[in-house]
Amino acid sequence: MTELIYLTDSYKKTHTTTVVSCERKGQQWELVLASTIFYPEGGGQPSDKGIVTTSSGKAHVKHVRLAGDIVVHECAIEGSIVAGEEARCDIDWDIRYQNMRIHTAGHIVHEAVKRVAPQLVALKGEHGTHPYIEYIGSVPIDKTYAIEKESNVIVDADVAVRTEFVSLEQLMARASWVPAHLPKNKPLRILTIGDNDPIPDGGTQVKTTKETGNITITAIENADDHVRICYRVESARAVLPQISEPEAIPAPELTRMLMEVESSAKEIIASSTKSADALRLELLGNKSNFAQITKNIKYVPVAYRQEIGKVINFVKEHIEEALSERAPLQDNATGAAEKFMDVTMPGIRPPEGHLHIVTQAIMEITRIFEKIGFTRVRHPEVDWDWYPFESLNMPPTHPARDEWETFFLEYPGKPTGTNPRKQKIVLTPHTSNGQVREMEKGRLPIRMINIAKCYRRQIDVSHTPMFHQFEGLYIDRNVSIGHLKGVFDYFVKQFFGANRTTRLRPFHFQFTEPSFEVDINCGICLGSGKLPDGTSCKLCKAGWLELGGAGMVHPVVLRNGGVDPDVYSGFAFGWGIERTSMMKSGTKLDDIRLLYSNDIRFLEQF
Ligand code: PHE
Repeated sequence: MTELIYLTDSYKKTHTTTVVSCERKGQQWELVLASTIFYPEGGGQPSDKGIVTTSSGKAHVKHVRLAGDIVVHECAIEGSIVAGEEARCDIDWDIRYQNMRIHTAGHIVHEAVKRVAPQLVALKGEHGTHPYIEYIGSVPIDKTYAIEKESNVIVDADVAVRTEFVSLEQLMARASWVPAHLPKNKPLRILTIGDNDPIPDGGTQVKTTKETGNITITAIENADDHVRICYRVESARAVLPQISEPEAIPAPELTRMLMEVESSAKEIIASSTKSADALRLELLGNKSNFAQITKNIKYVPVAYRQEIGKVINFVKEHIEEALSERAPLQDNATGAAEKFMDVTMPGIRPPEGHLHIVTQAIMEITRIFEKIGFTRVRHPEVDWDWYPFESLNMPPTHPARDEWETFFLEYPGKPTGTNPRKQKIVLTPHTSNGQVREMEKGRLPIRMINIAKCYRRQIDVSHTPMFHQFEGLYIDRNVSIGHLKGVFDYFVKQFFGANRTTRLRPFHFQFTEPSFEVDINCGICLGSGKLPDGTSCKLCKAGWLELGGAGMVHPVVLRNGGVDPDVYSGFAFGWGIERTSMMKSGTKLDDIRLLYSNDIRFLEQF
């Protein structure tokens, strides 16, 4: 039986022991030691590689396996190695350390999965070149980010990863789940991450979660009733040559690796002082990461091979391009770096984001109204039915309510108290709920601009269930329709341009009298409906576009807000932001839902 040193010390890189046996088996030798720090393949973790040296020979250990309770080191031997000799072991620490990080990361991902998808039953894990954990069950792929985020919360918390030996009884007392096949009469090695449940484990592990580095969930692959959650750890490419082992890398992962090779090659080309030829060898030659990765194309499923082939060609072309753009240089020549560096060259601009078109419009509308003394206010977007309806002259059964396809909220129990104004709760279908709320503040005159989200039960090419409105309310002595028209003309000239104007069309709202719909003259044909060549305008129908509703505040509404309609009068208007800002950019959207689909290709145009 070989003593397994790595079980108690994962960080031991060298070790001295004695040779038990060394026998030739076909092409290779099989070396057995009294004790070993070499990890034999198992539990999803790949075997260690390294060197064993004695006074008379040297063994290059290529693979290590467990045969019963004996560790067999498969190796090539220079000189000779015989039983009884003292032997010094050196493991390839880069490979081992990476394996440890990947293995611990697997346990971290498992803890994260338990939090995000507690229904899954763990089956097995692979912690080699293409690490994953497999479960019975399924997970929607939109959980990818949640699992990744939870994993990195554990990584960042830098909690201890402890291993210890316990009896089966002790384990059962501590863990909420214990696999059925565990041996009864042997000490069991268990692993605990922070204060999570212990898990039986025989692998090598890092000491704290931070050592694994950032974890990426690379794929969630659902098949039948099994799901694989694939992951990787930061900079695990240090020992890339491993991937030349005949094992398929999923096509998207291969693409991602190639893109990384390209960007790191470009960085090297930009900063290195070596000649283009030397760099070509380093970046595209046989030993390059690029070459190692492209070897995997033969394991890519045929259906994807052509696609990956294209990516490989692109990456190669781009690297060649970057190389050919460099000035020719002498290797290591002094001053070469200076000659190459052009300090006047403009830097590379990082990608820059900008505010969403709706946010831009909100800011501009606020600014325009502030200039004429209006103040931006906020009122609830979840409100008592009273404010958006009853206070606005629309009692519970009034048919006018149908216009506002309202979401009513269910809530447990009865509303507090018997106040008739505090009974039902709605998601506000328009910003007019702010009218009476503003009056209730008890300060006159009122010049408010209320901008908020509104909700209606509508979704199609011209409606999103959530949208924005801006609501103006002006209340003072002697306010007339003339003021209303003046404010609208001022706004459209500021927002759309000096050659724009408005017109009022009679309409009906329960909460204004008289009521209007406000139109703006079309920016393309300027109200004529005709283009210079005599054809009819494509943007508007007859020269005018509809902005939204408006009117003089109804006396009932004023009274509901505690304002005396015999002394005060006012006007109000409520227009949609999405519509208004689309009209400004002259865009006719085929599908307004694009605004909220988070597609950067669409959004970056505004
Ligand atoms: N709230 C109305 C709507 O959503 C618009 C409006 C506001 C009309 C103010 C008159 C006065 O359609």
